[in-house]
Amino acid sequence: MASSLHPYSFPASFHPLPHLSTRSLNPRHSNRTRFTPIPIRSMLQWNRKPELSGETPRVVVITSGKGGVGKTTTTANIGVSLARYGFSVVAVDADAGLRNLDLLLGLESRVVYTAAEALNGDCRLDQALVRDRRWSSLELLCISRPRSKLSLAFGPKALTWVVDALRSRSSGPPDFVLIDCPAGIDAGFVTAIAPAHEAVLVTTPDITALRDADRVTGLLECDGIRDIKMIVNRVRTDLIRGEDMMSVLDVQEMLGLALLGVIPDDAEVIKSTNRGYPLVLNQPPSMAGLAFEQAAWRLAEQDSMKAVMVEEEPKKRGFFSFFGG
Ligand SMILES: Nc1ncnc2c1ncn2[C@@H]1O[C@H](COP(=O)(O)OP(=O)(O)O)[C@@H](O)[C@H]1O
Ligand SMILES: [Mg+2]
Repeated sequence: MASSLHPYSFPASFHPLPHLSTRSLNPRHSNRTRFTPIPIRSMLQWNRKPELSGETPRVVVITSGKGGVGKTTTTANIGVSLARYGFSVVAVDADAGLRNLDLLLGLESRVVYTAAEALNGDCRLDQALVRDRRWSSLELLCISRPRSKLSLAFGPKALTWVVDALRSRSSGPPDFVLIDCPAGIDAGFVTAIAPAHEAVLVTTPDITALRDADRVTGLLECDGIRDIKMIVNRVRTDLIRGEDMMSVLDVQEMLGLALLGVIPDDAEVIKSTNRGYPLVLNQPPSMAGLAFEQAAWRLAEQDSMKAVMVEEEPKKRGFFSFFGG
C-alpha cells in the first residue's frame, strides 16, 4: 500500500539506499539521470514506522527449497528490523536438528527449553520463548534441540498449536510470527508451512536455486498460501553486467512472484553471521543491512518493489543500468 512514509516516496536526494533504488522500467527515465551520492543511513533515522497491513499475527514462513541461500539470515535480519520498527515479533526456528537462528541472533546460550518440550508438557510455552535483550519486542522460539531428532509428533499440527498458543497469549498476539523453514520439501518443510498464511521465498540468482524455488512456489500454492513474495539474495551487479549472473528481472520473469527485496552479496553478512550480531544492527549500516531493512518495511506494509536498478560507477559507464538491463 502506498503511504507517505513509504521508503520509496523519499526524494532521490534523500534516498536511503543511493546505489539500490527503485524506478519504473519506463524507458523515459533517462539513463543519464544521476543520484547525488549520499552516506548510507538506516531507515530508523527517519523516526517513522511502516504502517502494519493485514490481520495480526501475520504468520510468515521464510522458505526456499534449496539450502544455503539465506533463509536464516533473512529471518534474523527481517525479524530484528521489524522489532526495531516497533512491532512484536516471534522468530521460530523450525529447522529441527540443524537449527542456527539462535546463533545468528546471538541468543544460543539463552535457549533452555524448546517448543517440543512445551508440547510434551515439560515446560510452559513462554519458558521456551527467549526474549532478545537488545529489542524486547523480539522473541526466539526453537522447536527442538540442536542435532536432536524431532519426535514424529512434532508435525504440522504441533506447529499450528504453537502458533495458536502465541495468538492467544495473555500479553496479546505478536504482530509477526516468522518461521525459518528447513531446506528441502519433506516433513520439516510441510511442518513449517502449515500455520503460515504468507511466504517469503528466498532465492539466489542461479539455476539450481530457481528450480527449487519454482517447485516450492507450487507446493505453497497447493497448500493454500497465495501471498508469496520473493527476496533475491546474494546479487552481484558486477556479474550481472558481465552477463555472468542472472538479473533480478530474469529471476522475476522465471518465478512470476512479487519482489520484496534485493540483497547484495556482501562480506558483512558473513562477518555478522560469525559474530552472532544481526547485520541490520551494524553501524555504519551496510548495503545488505539496509536492503533487509527495506524488505522488512515492505513486508509490514504488504508492499513490493516494481523494478530495481543499479547505479553504475560513473567513471566506467556513467549511467544507470537496470538489474535486468
Ligand atoms: N547477502 C549475502 N552476502 C554474503 N553472504 C551471505 C548473504 N546471505 C547469506 N550469506 C551467507 O550464506 C550462508 C548461508 O546462509 P543461511 O542464511 O544460513 O542460509 P539458509 O538458511 O538458507 O541455509 C551463510 O554463511 C551466510 O552468511
Ligand atoms: Mg537456515
